[in-house]
Amino acid sequence: MRVVSGIQPTGNLHLGNYLGAIKQWVAMQDAMAAGDDCLFFLADLHALTVAIDPRELASNTIEMAAALVASGIDPDRAILFNQARVPAHSELTWILNGTARIGWLNRMTQFKDKAGKNRESASIGLYAYPVLMAADVLVYNASHVPVGDDQKQHLELARDIATKFNTDFGSDVFVLPEPLVSKAAPRVMSLRDGTAKMSKSDPSDASRINLTDSDDAIAQKLKKAKSDADVLPDTAAGLADRPEARNLVTIYAALAGTSVDAVLADHAGKGFGAFKPALADVAVATLGPIRERMTALLDDRAAMGAILEKGAAKARTLAAPTLRAAQDAVGLQV
Ligand code: ADP
Ligand code: TRP
Repeated sequence: MRVVSGIQPTGNLHLGNYLGAIKQWVAMQDAMAAGDDCLFFLADLHALTVAIDPRELASNTIEMAAALVASGIDPDRAILFNQARVPAHSELTWILNGTARIGWLNRMTQFKDKAGKNRESASIGLYAYPVLMAADVLVYNASHVPVGDDQKQHLELARDIATKFNTDFGSDVFVLPEPLVSKAAPRVMSLRDGTAKMSKSDPSDASRINLTDSDDAIAQKLKKAKSDADVLPDTAAGLADRPEARNLVTIYAALAGTSVDAVLADHAGKGFGAFKPALADVAVATLGPIRERMTALLDDRAAMGAILEKGAAKARTLAAPTLRAAQDAVGLQV
């Protein structure tokens, strides 16, 4: 098994990112057998597809790397790096641009969402983004790619590009990657609105728990979280029409590493006045130590940079043979 996944270093990591993505990566790393590889990277090249502040990009990359290590990614077991330091991603992208079809990219829903009405002024990078993502996984012959639901279409595209390349050039250069959409990964909703996703782009800071929030801030935000006046039911079915209640119970279950039914078995009949402090305790117990490790790691940013460089060196070694095989297949042998 070779697991490859990336996350954009956009800053402001929140509980949704932790439970929905990072925790799944850590679980995959921990389940790795001998001979398996896990490669996790900060997708800094992808971040260039929208307006960025260069200083922020650099610091977000280091901060996000620290958040991953603080959450349990072990740079001695997983290969942790930033994409820009492995030029094979960019070099393979250009080769794959010859294989990807405009019609395929025109179907990508994320481009339509992100470009909005003003498509003419979107960057070429935003449009071509899925080809870089294809190169990210194909360059390592990834077998499995953990992603959120919204990235499944991009991974389908990666498989189409790999298939067409292999067919066009009569080669078996690329392995077809399988998306892994974890059933354990919850969709964490806003603390202010149980029907909206918790997101870094929500203007209300009270809508999310940031990985940098103090214990006090975590407890306060959960205490003020939108809920309802009913008591907790004894099964998950009883939460069906109660989005805020369901969100808080889901968060509790994910943080405690248990199921929604198990949480309800313990808390059925309680109102939110009693449940919220219990939730705050679980949240602080998990997120407090992560925040502290993150702060300690960021005391020495150069050391974090060195961890990334070590990962990049390993990644460059793994990427080289596939890039070379793709170059050879298309006639770039000279
Ligand atoms: P945001 O929505 O805050 O901009 P991103 O789109 O950068 O977050 O997501 C980074 C990763 O975190 C992706 O793998 C995504 O699936 C996951 N993720 C983001 N928000 C949530 C959420 N509210 N619940 C679960 N997973 C999430
Ligand atoms: N596009 C992904 C996102 O926005 C991040 C990403 C870039 C990625 N390259 C990848 C994910 C390769 C998996 C594999 O969430």
